[in-house]
Amino acid sequence: MATLFYEPSTRTRVSFESAMYRLGGTVISTENAREFSSAAKGETLEDTIHVMSAYVDVIVLRHDERRETHTAARAAEVSRHVPIINAGCGRSQHPTQALLDLYTIRRERKEIDGIRIAFVGDLKYGRTVRSLCYLLGKFSSVQIYFVAPTALQIESDILAYLDRHAVRYTQTESLKKIISEVDVVYMTRIQKERMPGGMSGIDQSRMEQSYRMTVTLVKQLSAYGTIMHPLPRNSEIDTLVDAMPQAAYFRQAENGLYVRMALLETIFAHH
Ligand code: NCD
Repeated sequence: MATLFYEPSTRTRVSFESAMYRLGGTVISTENAREFSSAAKGETLEDTIHVMSAYVDVIVLRHDERRETHTAARAAEVSRHVPIINAGCGRSQHPTQALLDLYTIRRERKEIDGIRIAFVGDLKYGRTVRSLCYLLGKFSSVQIYFVAPTALQIESDILAYLDRHAVRYTQTESLKKIISEVDVVYMTRIQKERMPGGMSGIDQSRMEQSYRMTVTLVKQLSAYGTIMHPLPRNSEIDTLVDAMPQAAYFRQAENGLYVRMALLETIFAHH
């Protein structure tokens, strides 16, 4: 397996690599492909993939392209013999994160049908919420709350998708108002590095106060509630929350290993 990462990553790359080793495979890794691969010499992604696909049996790709949202698909087109796994594509998609998020919801709550889930924080520039919405659209009676300031609300293509799949959703600016009504709270960090004009137009300190999970807030959540976060976290979850039973984010990150093992095994079984 080759991991070709043009953007920073800890969990995704390491869990993919660990998964491959645990299945008995081996790994060739480029963790800063922007600087350390031939991209620095001006090679196109297409040429890199074309060549790499002759050296390995599967390619895990994280690309940072901002204008082009279909880099993983572009790579899959030129890969001669081997599958491409999308390990995060700009601000567009992060499908394997969505798989492990869904698995985590099932493990923590037994059921996915009928869950009430709040997505909190930067829903505009984050990609994990977008991908999880696609998967939630496959289940029934899911209710979604998008909790964010207007400038960082979820984009309309996702709402249109949810409409087509008859998923109920509401948008709100207030986490406090809805926290007692949900089963799962999915926190996200502000994606500063993806914002075109930096943080201009966004009141960061207000944002950090209003969209922050604290012990007081967790007490308003059901005792059986589940708090998730794709990680890395900044200040949006108080570390005091970590010891509370509702805090599922470290279990969620661990699940990434098992889900990626299952994914690799499924791919090799069909290839
Ligand atoms: C996320 C990502 O890369 O989109 N991280 C991850 O893969 N667990 C979330 C983030 O960077 O905020």
